[in-house]
Amino acid sequence: MPNERLWVAASDQLAEGSYLRTEVAYTGEPVSVIVFRHKGRCLAYRNRCVHMPRQLDCEKDGIFDATGQYLRCSMHGIVYDPVTGASVSSLCNGQRLTPIGIFEDPHGVWIDDMRVKPLTRKQQDLPE
Ligand code: FES
Repeated sequence: MPNERLWVAASDQLAEGSYLRTEVAYTGEPVSVIVFRHKGRCLAYRNRCVHMPRQLDCEKDGIFDATGQYLRCSMHGIVYDPVTGASVSSLCNGQRLTPIGIFEDPHGVWIDDMRVKPLTRKQQDLPE
């Protein structure tokens, strides 16, 4: 059975160096995912630091470091390679963010990952 693709955004809504968050069901659990563009390419990770169960943007509205070339957790400052998701800091060195399958086509940016489904109405806290 093919994966259920989830539309994230139009390509022009994800400019170079920008990011957005989306909420999905990941292996059945509601989680936050960060989707961003780096060097022209769209990438996505589960929004959960390898150090502690915190979102990368928990303390600041942003996921990049001052150079814009690395991801940075706003809690204690772990810096990640945006392409591999690996920590390049001494703290948790080499540990990786959880990658989420993503692709871009003329219609926009999509999550395409067998572990990811749309949130149910209950997970969205909406009436049935
Ligand atoms: S929780 Fe991310 S660096 Fe500590």
